[in-house]
Amino acid sequence: MTVDLSVTIAGVRLKNPVIAASGTFGYGEEYAGLLDVSSLGGICTKGLTLNPRKGNPGIRLHETPSGLLNSIGLENPGIPAFLEEKLPALRRLGPALIANLSGADMKEYGEGARLLDGSPVDMIELNISCPNVKAGGMAFGLEPRAAAALTRAVRGAAPHKPLLVKLSPNAPDLASVARACVNAGADGLSLVNTFKAMAIDVRLGRPVFENIGAGLSGPAIKPIALRMVWELWEALRVDPACGKGAVPIVGMGGIADTEDALEFLMAGAAAVQVGSATFAHPGAMIEIIRGIGAYMEERGMKDLEELSIR
Ligand SMILES: Cc1cc2nc3c(=O)[nH]c(=O)nc-3n(C[C@H](O)[C@H](O)[C@H](O)COP(=O)(O)O)c2cc1C
Repeated sequence: MTVDLSVTIAGVRLKNPVIAASGTFGYGEEYAGLLDVSSLGGICTKGLTLNPRKGNPGIRLHETPSGLLNSIGLENPGIPAFLEEKLPALRRLGPALIANLSGADMKEYGEGARLLDGSPVDMIELNISCPNVKAGGMAFGLEPRAAAALTRAVRGAAPHKPLLVKLSPNAPDLASVARACVNAGADGLSLVNTFKAMAIDVRLGRPVFENIGAGLSGPAIKPIALRMVWELWEALRVDPACGKGAVPIVGMGGIADTEDALEFLMAGAAAVQVGSATFAHPGAMIEIIRGIGAYMEERGMKDLEELSIR
C-alpha cells in the first residue's frame, strides 16, 4: 500500500505536510549537511523586510523549562539581497518555498510584497505577529481592522502569489483577526507565532532581554497552540461571514515529534511547521515525515485528509 503524504495549500503542492518554520531554518542551506533538506514539504524563510535589518542588540535566545525565548528582531539582508544572494540556492533545494514577509509599516510591507510577487517564491507568509520589533510586526496582528488593511495592501501588491497570514496568539480575539484577514484576501492562515513573555536575570537583577519582552516557543506552548488551531478551524468553518468556505490552516507551536504533528493534523491543520525543535534535534522534521507515513500505513489510511477528526 502506498501512503500519499502530499497536500495542496492555496494551489501550492507540498510533497508532505512538514514545513520548516520561519526564523528557525535560516535560508535552508545552513542545514544541508545535517539533514536531507530536499525531503521537506516546505521551507519558510526568516522574516524578510524590504530594507536590511541588523536585529536586536544584547541577548537574543534564552532557554526556559520546555521552551525557548527569542528576541532576534528580524535580522535579515533585505528582500533585494535575499532575492539575489539567497533565493537561487534555496530554490535548488527542492521543497516548496515560502517567503515570510515583515515590515515596519504598510509601505514597506507593500513594496516588499511587490518584489516577492515577481520572484520565484511559491507563497508569501505575511507576518503580522512578530513580538520582537518596535514598529510593524505584531502591531498589525492584534486587531481585526489593522490586520485586514495590511492583508488587503499585500494582496494588492502581490496578486500572483498565494498568501498565508501568520497570526499572533497574543491577539485578544484571534477568530476576528483571522476572519478579517480571510475577507481581505488571505488564502490561508498559519498559527501560532510566539507568545509574548519575559525572563529576569536574578544575578544581575535586570530583564534578560534589552526589549524586556521576548517570544516564547517550544513544547511549553504546544497545548495552547493546538487549542487555538482547533478553535480557529471551528470559527472559520461555521462562520457565514467568512464567505470563502474552508480555509487551509497551517499549524505550529511546540511540535517536536510525530505525535505532536499528528495532533495538529487531527485538529484540522492541513500542514504543520516545526521551529524550535530543529535547534535541539536537526533531524526532527525528517523523523516526523517518516512517522506520519508509518502511522497512516499502519491504519490503512491513503491520504492526509483521513487524519482529520473534524
Ligand atoms: C529564533 C526564532 C526566530 C523566529 N523568527 C521568526 C520570523 O522571522 N518570522 C516569523 O513569522 N516567525 C518567527 N519565529 C516563530 C516561529 O516561526 C514559530 O512560529 C514559533 O517558534 C512557534 O513554533 P515552535 O514552537 O515550533 O518554534 C521565530 C522563532 C524562533 C524560535
